[in-house]
Amino acid sequence: TTDPLVIFTPSGKRGRFPVGTPVLTAARQLGVDLDSVCGGRGICSKCQVAPSYGEFSKHGVTAREGALSDWNSVEQRYDDIRGLKDGRRLGCQATVQGDIVIDVPPESQVHRQVVRKAAAVRDIVMDPATKLLFVKVQEPDMHEPSGDLERLAAALRDEWGITDVHAPLPVLTKLQKVLRKGNWEVTVALHRGSLDGRHQVIDVYPGFHEGRIYGLAIDLGSTTIAAHLCDLRNGQVAASAGVMNPQIRFGEDLMSRVSYAMMNPGGEVEMTAAVRAAINDLTVDIAAEAGITPDQIMEAVFVCNPVMHHLLIGVDPVELGQAPFALATSDAMGLPARELDLNRMNDAAQVFILPCIAGHVGADAAAVALSEEPGKSDDLVLIVDVGTNAEILLGDKSRVLACSSPTGPAFEGAQISSGQRAAPGAIERVEIDPATKEPRFKIIGSDSWSDDPDFGTPQITGICGSGIIEAVAEMRMAGLLDDKGLIGSPDQTGTSRCIVAGRTHSYVLHDSTADGGPLIAVTQGDIRAIQLAKSALYAGARLLMDEMGVDHVDRITLAGAFGAHISPKHAMVLGMIPDAPLANVRSAGNAAGTGARIALCSVTARRDIATIVRQITKVETAIAPKFQEHFVNANAIPHATDPFPHLAS
Ligand code: FES
Repeated sequence: TTDPLVIFTPSGKRGRFPVGTPVLTAARQLGVDLDSVCGGRGICSKCQVAPSYGEFSKHGVTAREGALSDWNSVEQRYDDIRGLKDGRRLGCQATVQGDIVIDVPPESQVHRQVVRKAAAVRDIVMDPATKLLFVKVQEPDMHEPSGDLERLAAALRDEWGITDVHAPLPVLTKLQKVLRKGNWEVTVALHRGSLDGRHQVIDVYPGFHEGRIYGLAIDLGSTTIAAHLCDLRNGQVAASAGVMNPQIRFGEDLMSRVSYAMMNPGGEVEMTAAVRAAINDLTVDIAAEAGITPDQIMEAVFVCNPVMHHLLIGVDPVELGQAPFALATSDAMGLPARELDLNRMNDAAQVFILPCIAGHVGADAAAVALSEEPGKSDDLVLIVDVGTNAEILLGDKSRVLACSSPTGPAFEGAQISSGQRAAPGAIERVEIDPATKEPRFKIIGSDSWSDDPDFGTPQITGICGSGIIEAVAEMRMAGLLDDKGLIGSPDQTGTSRCIVAGRTHSYVLHDSTADGGPLIAVTQGDIRAIQLAKSALYAGARLLMDEMGVDHVDRITLAGAFGAHISPKHAMVLGMIPDAPLANVRSAGNAAGTGARIALCSVTARRDIATIVRQITKVETAIAPKFQEHFVNANAIPHATDPFPHLAS
């Protein structure tokens, strides 16, 4: 006689098992993704399955209907307390009785895939570093002396096959009470280090713990710090929040912060303290927003540029200010959060920092590579992550190059006369009628254009990064601006919206001075700031194209916290990016932030990134002689020499 055939769907994995084999056991032997937190004790209900053909063991009588039930006594108890859905069985209790097809529903799959929120859908395969595990620990025995932690480690080894278990002090101090309170049954939040494979107990709870655990994915930028709080079971974002980087008071861009550290003894210590305090505040806020307690935050993953990286870990960034731009370390780091004074999450929380590529190309670029995967692309893709410092990647399956370029904060609305952060009241879209030279615009927080009767009289406070890019590009298209970037006079342009401002001209977008409101205009100084920023961006991209030996790219991806809001057409009219078919220019949103989320949700991704980083060739813009030449030529709008055939069509 042959054993019954067991087939799991949707994986299609199959095998023969003796009658009486628990489904969870069969699933484990076949490598089927079936969750379990309690180790098969019928407590966690994570292992639920649904037979779609054939039957499991039958047991008992249901309390509800008095009918013959499929459930055994453990399942019955579970159903009485919490309710088990009809047609569902606990995989650890139901046993194989004959040939059967078993469906594993999505919520019972550990590695269940989560769809990203952004426009470009990409699945994150869940494989988090921190998981909850339920164990039964041996009680102490005078004749076999061993510590509570050693017996907990033995239980983790015997029940879950986990070795190399350690517990930091915050866990040790509570372990004995929790073990006794749980009557030697506890749930452990266990963190597996992707770098060393060590297991750290982050927290321990009496009995079976129903609570959720979370992690933070933090994109630590020069201007803003953006965080996503993610549920570590399914990767879902529970809350998102952002704050300004308080280091701005020490210098707006990276190099001015490096100079601050050079000029002021102890300056780097001040900047480190400031950014850590801001991350602590952000942690408190985001936990409050999601309605969780800070001790539910088990870990944080950081992506950042090299200067932010060094200031986060408390290393003086002075070496990054001078050739050969040596990093203290470019490897990924895993360490306890409290070593970084990040003390608003769980006391034993862990931090993972993505690796830097080299020199000026940081973990943020590595995160973009992780999320956008240029090294898997058939055609040549240019990825620009626009921020105070632009990270630029160019590549395809054969090769990936990366550089960073100091664009300055103009694209984020700083250094712009009416500039502001993207927030309600900021002008974010602009159109200028080429015939009348009259503008219309949209502000953040309103769906209608300013010439729409529904627009009303909202408070208009300034112009944000995407708004200024559109305004300058529209001014060029409407003939208010020549290719050198000079704003025409009222006479030259034939509109009174161009006003004289000293020896230059400004273009008025919105004037509410009569009502005591602001005058929002694009000044010659604003145009200059945008020209400098876009030239730096373009020159970086061109440098990579030279290195690659190409004069055009197939696709362009705009990334960055506000990359999602930049209109591809306007970016190209401005000459921020090289020429490409407009349909092949897309926005990826905050790709670095997405990369951080992927790393938060997946230990495998943390390992992959090390390989990806090794395959990327860094190009240093600061010492490349061609950079200056590209920069000067890119000052014209769109460009002094490079053709833009796709703009004509
Ligand atoms: Fe926990 Fe089945 S494994 S209830």
